[in-house]
Amino acid sequence: MSRIVVVSNRVPVPAGNAGQAGGLAVALLGLMERRGGLWFGWSGAVVERSGQPTVTQRGAVGYATLDLTEAEHRGYYTGYSNGVLWPMLHGLPHLIAFRRQDLDTYRRVNRRFADCLVPMLRRDDRIWVHDYHLLSLPGALRARGVRNPTGFFLHVPFPAPDAASVAPGIRALVQDVLEADLIGFQTAADRDNFASAASGLAGATRRAEDRLEHGGRHVRLGIFPAEINAREFAATAEAQMREEPARLLRRSLDGQALLLGVDRLDPTKGLPERLEAFSRMLARRPNQAVTFLQIAAPSREEVVAYRRLRTELDASAGAINSEHGEPHWVPLRMLARAQRRDTVAGFMRLARVGVVTPLRDGMNLVAKEFVAAQDPRDPGVLVLSCFAGAAAQLPSALLVNPHDVEGMAEALQAALDMPLEERRARWQASWAAIAEATPEAWGESFLRALAPEDLAGIPAAGVA
Ligand code: F6P
Repeated sequence: MSRIVVVSNRVPVPAGNAGQAGGLAVALLGLMERRGGLWFGWSGAVVERSGQPTVTQRGAVGYATLDLTEAEHRGYYTGYSNGVLWPMLHGLPHLIAFRRQDLDTYRRVNRRFADCLVPMLRRDDRIWVHDYHLLSLPGALRARGVRNPTGFFLHVPFPAPDAASVAPGIRALVQDVLEADLIGFQTAADRDNFASAASGLAGATRRAEDRLEHGGRHVRLGIFPAEINAREFAATAEAQMREEPARLLRRSLDGQALLLGVDRLDPTKGLPERLEAFSRMLARRPNQAVTFLQIAAPSREEVVAYRRLRTELDASAGAINSEHGEPHWVPLRMLARAQRRDTVAGFMRLARVGVVTPLRDGMNLVAKEFVAAQDPRDPGVLVLSCFAGAAAQLPSALLVNPHDVEGMAEALQAALDMPLEERRARWQASWAAIAEATPEAWGESFLRALAPEDLAGIPAAGVA
């Protein structure tokens, strides 16, 4: 079997920056450890002067990482990736903060990734590039003569062409990503939006649902919804009920129903709208025996919009408690600190309601984790944004429009009041949608689509 070369911005180097690795890295780690290969990307370090990649071999995986200079980090990561592409891709154009030099740096860092990667490549490698930080990498690799099968997977949504075109520089980036052989998306809507943008902005022609023609080449498009290992997560959640964090939380609730939100502190997550919905629910029916725990892990604090959001949330949380609280009761607990994934699994199992209401999200694996963590005999209810990719697979959740705060308040109340039979029926349908999938099967299905002949004999994945 040929070697797999994964390229992503974050790399979970063992004993390195794994704590910051995030959903993408968690999804790929098991696959890479089993299959072996090379994982190339940013080290997580910001240094004074740029150097060559450092390679760490752990078992069958080589982790090759590059440090970024302060100027590279500011322009490529903070400026263009998170200040322009992220809000554009999530349909939040008012949050775009564009500077021409950030786009130049973004492209330069993509070229530097290519320059450092090319000497490490072997003739029969399969290359798999990940996410919006590296949109111009497929083009940069081809420009350096790389002809290996190259796939690209977008973990986040892709908006309609009009919305995509607001990002200065996007036309060239779409052209660059079209140099890949296979481009994967979380949902059919993302794929179709990208195909329209590729036609409108880059002159590609759609030849079939899953195929574009561009510059005389065929580019395949696929849908690969990201998955979790639901059975493993369920076991973790159950085991965590005996651990101190879950026991302390349960004791502190003293019989109150728990509503739980777990997010990065990010403008796409719809946190102000969510808190407002909770506040309206309490205004309609005061003094309910409920507690809302919102975990909001600080993220991308160099970006102004994220710092403003933190200030806004701190103010709303204070206002909710001063307005609705009682001498003996604090309705909202907000933690602006990351929590361990296994600890959160236990909290999810304790919760009566999981609140996952992003304004827009590629997939949102927290929604799947909440379902997996439930006790099948007495499951909690998932309140899920219809604009999360997960909604396509979990229609039995209580689906809400996060812009309709009244509607969300009603859904939160309905979730709290839902009879056991209905909770069980909804949970069983959601569980059936996620139980058999694994991140490894998700990865294998992408790799099989990239290079079918290379993966004969690998078990078929349980994803579309
Ligand atoms: O959703 C895209 C993503 O890369 C996730 O994989 C990850 O959880 C998150 O963003 C992390 O963001 P950052 O790398 O900016 O900390």
